Amino acid sequence: MEIFADTADVREIQTWLDFGVLDGATTNPSIMLAGGEYQLREGAIKIAKLLGDRPLSVEVVTDDRNEMWEQATEMAGWAPNIVVKIPIITTQGEPCLGVISRLTSHGVKVNATACLSFNQAMLAAKAGATYVSLFAGRISDEGASAYEVIRNTAAWLKTWNVRAKIIVGSIRETVNVQDAALAGAHVVTVPPKFLWQMMDHKYSRFTVAQFLADGLSAAERIHALGLSASVNGSKAKKASQLRTK
Ligand code: E4P
Repeated sequence: MEIFADTADVREIQTWLDFGVLDGATTNPSIMLAGGEYQLREGAIKIAKLLGDRPLSVEVVTDDRNEMWEQATEMAGWAPNIVVKIPIITTQGEPCLGVISRLTSHGVKVNATACLSFNQAMLAAKAGATYVSLFAGRISDEGASAYEVIRNTAAWLKTWNVRAKIIVGSIRETVNVQDAALAGAHVVTVPPKFLWQMMDHKYSRFTVAQFLADGLSAAERIHALGLSASVNGSKAKKASQLRTK
């Protein structure tokens, strides 16, 4: 399974790339705005370059399907790793499947976004989308089970050998990431604040401190016995401090 960062924050993207766990990134106009990236083109090019050959999703900013095509073809030319997000429907409920299908047949990678049901995801995948974005948090907002939708979509894609990948977005809590992963998501796109929370655990901190303190105490004893030790025994003072924290 791949992990994307759901952000336009280049420092966070660089950090998680350096940690070796990031497979791509997703943005939307709200994320760009929140990240202070008012210049969509410049912001997207900067992030795309940082990501190397990993995908970056950038969303069209129009409710008109002809303009979606125009914006998407332009965006796809900004960098080779750009994936264009096309909403599954317009604000008026008109299907954007034709735009998705046409872009796909012209070689543009599409992320069919704002999918909130199995049926929407299935239709987007049939239309040729490279990715279908299921918004877990927003599905749950409506009282449905996001994990049932993810599980069913993943099962359907597998049964019929349809190549689209599910990106689960709209993560609201760290537990949503593991639920999405276990439900069969191909990608989970995670806001950095949850990536940090996923990694930390107070009992891990305690465990690491305990082992470090004991290792340093052992070094101190070796030093006191006049034996050679590669770790300086004087550091053992730190050991007792760590233990009491
Ligand atoms: C990702 O592709 C989505 O745009 C994002 O996760 C939506 O999250 P939200 O429901 O918190 O706005």
